[in-house]
Amino acid sequence: MNVTSIQQDLLEQASVFIRQCYAELGKSEQDLSERLEVIEAEIVLRGHYEHTPEELAHGAKMAWRNSNRCIGRLFWDNLSVIDARHAVTADEMAEAIWRHIGSATNGGKIRPFMTVFPASTVLPAHPPRIWNHQLIRYAGYVLDDGNTIGDPASVSFTSLCRELGWQGAGTPHDILPLVLSIGSNEKKWYDIPKELVLEVPLSHPDIPAFEELGLRWYAVPFVSDMLLEIGGIHYTAAPFNGWYMGTEIGARNLADKDRYNMLPEVARIMGLDTSSNASLWKDKALVELNLAVLHSYKAHGITIVDHHTAAQQFMRFERNERESHREVTGRWSWLVPPLSPATTHIFHQRYEDRIVSPQFFYQNKS
Ligand code: ARG
Repeated sequence: MNVTSIQQDLLEQASVFIRQCYAELGKSEQDLSERLEVIEAEIVLRGHYEHTPEELAHGAKMAWRNSNRCIGRLFWDNLSVIDARHAVTADEMAEAIWRHIGSATNGGKIRPFMTVFPASTVLPAHPPRIWNHQLIRYAGYVLDDGNTIGDPASVSFTSLCRELGWQGAGTPHDILPLVLSIGSNEKKWYDIPKELVLEVPLSHPDIPAFEELGLRWYAVPFVSDMLLEIGGIHYTAAPFNGWYMGTEIGARNLADKDRYNMLPEVARIMGLDTSSNASLWKDKALVELNLAVLHSYKAHGITIVDHHTAAQQFMRFERNERESHREVTGRWSWLVPPLSPATTHIFHQRYEDRIVSPQFFYQNKS
């Protein structure tokens, strides 16, 4: 039989994945060789193969385990995978996404979930896509005076939503609509049902004025624009969530100059001397802002982890992986927390930033 080099390639990637997956799942040699035969026949006949639900679920977990930028990987084996490979319309995708948001949010006791939509092999011309960076995120609007309302990181996606006909209220915390496409170029947008969006107003345990800043953030980060690759198969829509590490919000989303840029405001209510760098007003404001984030999520019963605990959990992950005879790859600049980095072991260590499959990849944004 005539096998193209593309098929040869896919067969090779499939075989590497299936061997590792089946070994980790404790499958027999017979199960393995039977499965490899079926996959080979499928690839030769149709040019691609389909994962069993079990392979998909374990492959997704492996992709998390291989995510070099993620400090939360200790919990890779606790991922629940929703198989939505049967979805053929945007409406069906939206339904699956609502279920994902509800199950993962779980009233604040957040559970890691991933929903997997059809692979690009099934709809090669127009594979499913979620155009949002995260399922839940705040809009950003540039005003005529050049100032921005809301999240500056969302400005270009917000314009896209408005071109599609969505209208935001123009507050700093407008929840963006979900934008989907599948089977064609047409992008459909959906308002996210309000009852699905859990948010936290931020307050500080001992600075009453903090509440007056009107800060808030959403409970669950659902990254929704990455490509999941398992055994050579590409899933272009596979949104996933964990829970927040406090610094993502307190030391980046609300603090970065090109995000909500709140350090000057926090310093003002704290009465700090902002005229001199050496007063360390930025550092003081950062610490209190981060304390407020952790305090508020905790007070509302929403899962969150501080960066010290997360680093300790990562150390346990590194130990587990050593014991399982797997190498831990990582990207230092992402693993190291943006607050008090040198207080964690990560700062004092090196990580090899090597790409291992299964893996998540960035993909084109439009
Ligand atoms: N850093 C992103 C944010 O602040 C979220 C990325 C995923 N984070 C997570 N804890 N799973 O929104």
